[in-house]
Amino acid sequence: MDTPDGDGGQSTVFRSLDEEIRRRRTFAIISHPDAGKTTLTEKLLLYGGAIHMAGSIKSRKATRYATSDWMEIERQRGISVTSSALQFEFDGFSINLLDTPGHKDFSEDTYRTLEAADSVIMLLDGAKGIEPQTLKLFEVARLRNLPIVTFINKVDRESLPPLTLLSEIEKNLSIRALPRNWPIGMGRTFRGVFDLVERKAHLYVAQDHGSARSEEEVTDISDSRFSSILSGIGIEDEFWEEVDLLDSDLGLWDQEAFRKGHITPVFFGSALNNFGVELFLKAFLRLSPSPGAHMSDTGPINPETPQFSGFIFKIQANMDPQHRDRFAFLRVCSGQFRKGMTAKNVNTGQEVRLSKTLQFMGQRREAVDVAYPGDIIGLHDPGIFHIGDTLTEKGDFVYEGIPHFSPEFFVRVQIEDPLKRKHLRKGLLQIAEEGAIQMFTLDPEGERDVLVGAVGQLQFEVLKFRLEHEYKVRAKLEPMNYDRVRWITGPLDLISNLSSTLDTLLVFDREKSPVALFRNEWALRYVVEKYPSLGFHGTSPRT
Ligand code: G4P
Repeated sequence: MDTPDGDGGQSTVFRSLDEEIRRRRTFAIISHPDAGKTTLTEKLLLYGGAIHMAGSIKSRKATRYATSDWMEIERQRGISVTSSALQFEFDGFSINLLDTPGHKDFSEDTYRTLEAADSVIMLLDGAKGIEPQTLKLFEVARLRNLPIVTFINKVDRESLPPLTLLSEIEKNLSIRALPRNWPIGMGRTFRGVFDLVERKAHLYVAQDHGSARSEEEVTDISDSRFSSILSGIGIEDEFWEEVDLLDSDLGLWDQEAFRKGHITPVFFGSALNNFGVELFLKAFLRLSPSPGAHMSDTGPINPETPQFSGFIFKIQANMDPQHRDRFAFLRVCSGQFRKGMTAKNVNTGQEVRLSKTLQFMGQRREAVDVAYPGDIIGLHDPGIFHIGDTLTEKGDFVYEGIPHFSPEFFVRVQIEDPLKRKHLRKGLLQIAEEGAIQMFTLDPEGERDVLVGAVGQLQFEVLKFRLEHEYKVRAKLEPMNYDRVRWITGPLDLISNLSSTLDTLLVFDREKSPVALFRNEWALRYVVEKYPSLGFHGTSPRT
């Protein structure tokens, strides 16, 4: 099936479904806060022409709060807690960049986002190497067997020696790190990067903090300018010794081992100054895979299957307080999506017409007419979608479930104004449907107190902020001294005994299923041993 594709209004390009799939790259950047993810994202968008002047994401950071004011919390805390998907074109590729929150309290959100990615960029700060959040996110990427490409940033600043950085990656992450380029100098003497594969030096001309595409000079090894730069910064011997050493590693490159996440190609550069960014982007697009088959309950589904299918990995309400809208983000896995088409939500059995759909291009939101495997589209959600739902044009399969994490922190939600109880319920329910928190009640009918569980404390701050700003409810969140949760299955009379057990609280989830909260490991073990006929599950048996 050939499809017309607007080419900036100039001409119309016809591509087959196969070609559309082959030119798609869908990936996420994982990093520790402050490593430069916002800066790198901005530079990638700059090269993709999605923005014209770098610095706009920072200013977007500022203006975004005006349009989505709960993110104010991000600004106050100086952290990134939201994730979004951005689409742009570069060098013939159609790129979907999934943004993942850097803060550790949002790793559940990251996990879901990585379900929608085909590869990952691991971004490191050259002065810091592997930091705690990099490690945690890396482990999530590894669980999914995603290919990982490493970008070592900020080499224009004093950094760890490149060889030390490589061995740190290998030691901490148990992955083989094979450099594709090598920095020419570091810190104040940084002059560019040497492409180990093409054997060319990319020398850069500094600009105003890289606000436009960088000027670069590419020279051959034999070029006298290159050797005079090396001797000028006094590293000639050391540089060639290192390159000789690395040359023997180049032969170890194995595309299959990379695809499985056993080898990571490593690039050096400076996102802020655009040093090495274009070289990196081009190499990344060639190394990283196009969308492959996705696993379903009936086996793998190939992206080339002509019928559209995909799954929802994220729900976000109130992205724009002017519209109070809610979007479900869907990753297209097969076939062609067409605006207005009807698809079946296999999880609920409902037929849905997909007419209000959005894609995010840099700062702009745009309506989507067609989309292909690898693309992320935002579906307007009047409350009919759930995280993990599979949508298909034809066929009754369900994509492999997105796992839920067990909450480890709990609060009791109280409100000052009892007349706002309905608003509170609505707010909690919507936020719980986004998957950011889990909601429990003390009775199955949900009439009594509401408790909320979350994977990280920061979720509570976001919850409080959103309740106040989006639902106009001032809530008090009273910490509860429980840190373990189990969903319980078994005879009801036995389950009800748990309510009188020490250090254990019996509650109910949104589906009215019984759940026990425990104060400590000891309380959990006591109950498990005392009630061998009950089943204890870390997540809801329905999910
Ligand atoms: P994040 O999203 O990963 O949290 O990091 P972000 O891009 O916001 O970058 C964190 C800081 O690191 C910023 O400085 C940014 O300018 C700086 N930075 C990013 N890439 C490079 C680089 O290649 N070299 C150098 N030297 N610095 C880099 P800031 O002072 O926190 O913010 P700003 O005042 O620059 O906006």
